[in-house]
Amino acid sequence: MPLSKEAIYQSLLPQIEFLVSGEEDRIANMANISSALHEAFGFWWTGFYRVEPTADGVGELVLGPFQGPIACTRIPFGRGVCGKAWQQAQTIIVPDVHQFPGHIACSSASNSEIVVPVLHDGAVIAVLDIDSRDFNAFDSTDQHYLELISRLL
Ligand code: SME
Repeated sequence: MPLSKEAIYQSLLPQIEFLVSGEEDRIANMANISSALHEAFGFWWTGFYRVEPTADGVGELVLGPFQGPIACTRIPFGRGVCGKAWQQAQTIIVPDVHQFPGHIACSSASNSEIVVPVLHDGAVIAVLDIDSRDFNAFDSTDQHYLELISRLL
């Protein structure tokens, strides 16, 4: 019988904790977290967008470490699922990306998505974005564990 999602996260979480403890470089940690999640679950795309400053003071999301096919490089505040999760500082689960108004399609193969904000001192500093080729791939179990993982950064 294949392992449950819960069982995979439970075995992955201590490994990720070990991996990032003792390493201060956030980009390196994002890279290893992307890889660990991507390999364990076989997602379509797993990665981070980092909040970076812009001249107008709003900021934008800039592509960070990821696993999977090439992706959009920059995402404005409030745009797409990633920009909305940043704006709301809350996790967004999208069961069918084709029904999400303003969804940014980096790949037509993606059908569902979860975006988890990475918070630091109360501010969103990045988002963790995971895409699946399956519809309705993400639920509250993913949200629970991915939010725990995002707090390790
Ligand atoms: N679909 C995302 C854009 C990022 S890519 O899927 C990697 C969005 O609407 O925010």
